[in-house]
Amino acid sequence: MNTQELINTAEALVAGDKGLLAMDESNPTCDKRFAKQGIPQTEEARRAYRELIITTPRLGECISGTILYDETIRQRKKDGTLFIKAIIDAGIIPGIKVDIGAKDLAGHPGEKITEGLDGLRDRLKEYFQMGARFAKWRAVITVGDRIPSQGCVEANAQALARYAALCQEAGLVPVVEPEVLMEGDHSLERCRELTEELLRAVFAHLYVQRVTLEGMILKPNMVLPGLLYAEQEDVDTVADATIGSLLRVVPAAVPGVAFLSGGQSCELASARLNAMNARFKSQLPWAVAFSFARAIQQPALELWKGKDENVVAAQHALYHRARCNRAARRGEYEAAMEKTWKWDAVKAA
Ligand code: 13P
Repeated sequence: MNTQELINTAEALVAGDKGLLAMDESNPTCDKRFAKQGIPQTEEARRAYRELIITTPRLGECISGTILYDETIRQRKKDGTLFIKAIIDAGIIPGIKVDIGAKDLAGHPGEKITEGLDGLRDRLKEYFQMGARFAKWRAVITVGDRIPSQGCVEANAQALARYAALCQEAGLVPVVEPEVLMEGDHSLERCRELTEELLRAVFAHLYVQRVTLEGMILKPNMVLPGLLYAEQEDVDTVADATIGSLLRVVPAAVPGVAFLSGGQSCELASARLNAMNARFKSQLPWAVAFSFARAIQQPALELWKGKDENVVAAQHALYHRARCNRAARRGEYEAAMEKTWKWDAVKAA
């Protein structure tokens, strides 16, 4: 393991005003999203969609790294170029999702444990040889009546730490993703409490497993009320609660925090990220960036509809979201950009 290279990669992933684009949906998740848009659920459709994403002009201006799925990292553009080469040529660092999904946790009804540690060392070696330089593992914490349990939090935190240590051994920067889900009728305060408890457990296990904090990225949820909770706090309240929690539990040695979007609307995800940077950027020990999937991809997916004639429009929409989030990293995003910038992108074509 070359610690300095890990640190350089982690810093590059959150440098300047760029962020990560997650396009690592597993085949079942990708197919579910395709089905909603009437797109065929085939390997070729998934390939064509991912080619659309990675060939979006100027994507590298806003995106530092992109997270791929096992099927995707092996795929090629229509002209035969390996995706991973096209990504590197676009100035984007390739990453790979290495967990194999959240399964029911034995003895804990309604709770999940993320699997994928068996054989992980060999898979990481292969991904590194293919050109990947970072990896992702997502743990999901469901909020409900008397859950999450301590057993669920501990099991997931330990798995994240073991994954992170294996990644660093293989030369890959671990993106550590513990997610408190938005589904439910819990308050922002409950999300705050659980997010802090979860992150405390995660960092305790990362320490025990001897993970180099300078060579990792944290990918947490924002602190938000549940989707069904009556009071939906304003953008500044969410920014204050989220940054307040992270300051209490995320060590300063971590180079960056890159949020997941978790099912927020595109505009809200950008506005909340923006508020965090606008209000706190100069006081924070780590970069506050994004690692969105839905909040970057969704409008593009809806425009594409699986049709070649829609590729350019979909790429404009994707670039637009990436650009909005880049502005949010600087604390310069404004709702008006949603209209004016979309138009710019079309005019520039
Ligand atoms: P969302 O931004 O759609 O939550 O996805 C992020 C991600 O990578 C989930 O693992």
